[in-house]
Amino acid sequence: MGVKIIKIYDPSNLMKIKALALQNFKNYENLALEFTDGIQLLLGQNGTGKTNILDSLHYLTFTKTAFVNTDNQNIKKGALYFLINGDFENNGQTYEVICYHELRKKKLIKLNGAPYERIIEHIGKLPLVLSTPHDSDLIRESSEVRRKWVDGCIAQYNQEYLADLLVYNRILSQRNTLLKGMEGHLNASNKSLLDTYDTQLITLSKSLSHVRIDFVDRFIPFLSTNEGLIVFERETCSMTYQSQVLADDFEHSFLESRKKDVLTQRTNIGSHKDDYSFLMDGEPLKKFGSQGQQKSFLIALRLSQYDYLAKVTQIKPILLLDDIFDKLDDERVERLTALLNDSSRFGQVFITDARKERTSLLVKGKYKTKIFEIEKGKVNSYET
Ligand SMILES: Nc1ncnc2c1ncn2[C@@H]1O[C@H](COP(=O)(O)OP(=O)(O)OP(=O)(O)O)[C@@H](O)[C@H]1O
Ligand SMILES: [Mg+2]
Repeated sequence: MGVKIIKIYDPSNLMKIKALALQNFKNYENLALEFTDGIQLLLGQNGTGKTNILDSLHYLTFTKTAFVNTDNQNIKKGALYFLINGDFENNGQTYEVICYHELRKKKLIKLNGAPYERIIEHIGKLPLVLSTPHDSDLIRESSEVRRKWVDGCIAQYNQEYLADLLVYNRILSQRNTLLKGMEGHLNASNKSLLDTYDTQLITLSKSLSHVRIDFVDRFIPFLSTNEGLIVFERETCSMTYQSQVLADDFEHSFLESRKKDVLTQRTNIGSHKDDYSFLMDGEPLKKFGSQGQQKSFLIALRLSQYDYLAKVTQIKPILLLDDIFDKLDDERVERLTALLNDSSRFGQVFITDARKERTSLLVKGKYKTKIFEIEKGKVNSYET
């Protein structure tokens, strides 16, 4: 099967990281790496620290780890702080990012020497997409994981949405605290506070939903472009958005839910209940997709996120692919390898693998490749 080339942006406009330095980040005491354009292959046995390097890049762009660890858990065992330093470049402009966290203190994020007052201002400055084996949570886990993924995609290019979302979450948490304190009894003073919260939550729910619908509508075509590359041609991929907010009588239902909210001491309706479903041939992927099909779908999903973000920002994001070949059959590995060797579509791509031989096809490709051999906190690198 031929590989479709998607040309949607100026091929020279790419985000890249030129150098990375870690101090006491996870298993690395001191590490300094320099990257080239093209593919960066991180090879090493299980537990050597491949994913930790990708996570440090995720940290530099999203100001947090991609996983569930707290900032204190990211500090190398026995140390008192971690520091991540990254030098990025896009279109002749350089961005030096520093993330510093000291045990039990507030973290510090600096861009070109200046600390952020509000860390969220950093989100979206350095487009990056990460695919990890934990992506299976997007299919298997609760709606919260899918909402976070969509919110993260949108936040990369829409700061207003991110700001609205933060206000929504703050008011929601204040409302829930109020409901708990009421212990099932509504009186005049807490009624007026509830009225204020409800008006704000209703308005914000509507504007968040509006952006979420728009995202799903514009995202689906990218998903169907990618499905043929990874998934067998007879299968079609799609996604849907479900929200109580879309109902004509949402406002009425929100106010009607108040009695129940007072009794259950939490907010039962609103944007925080939204969900998304992933479909293969119109059926829920969670129930009908095999393991390999689910993995293929998730790769298609991440590549679609990459293409979508490139289109919206007009910059090729940095693409991080952690253990991407795992669980895929030979045909899919070959297809994916051919696909990744397309320098008109991809900029800087990081790929990890515990099995060196599987990535040899990539090295033989036209694309420039730098290899990093990792052994327990130490890295040896060379260009091919
Ligand atoms: N705070 C920390 N201090 C010390 N070591 C840590 C810390 N956090 C994580 N590690 C260790 O880092 C090691 C490497 O983890 P990582 O997930 O990067 O390995 P990997 O090379 O991706 O392995 P795999 O091939 O199995 O995916 C793990 O053994 C883990 O215990
Ligand atoms: Mg790993």
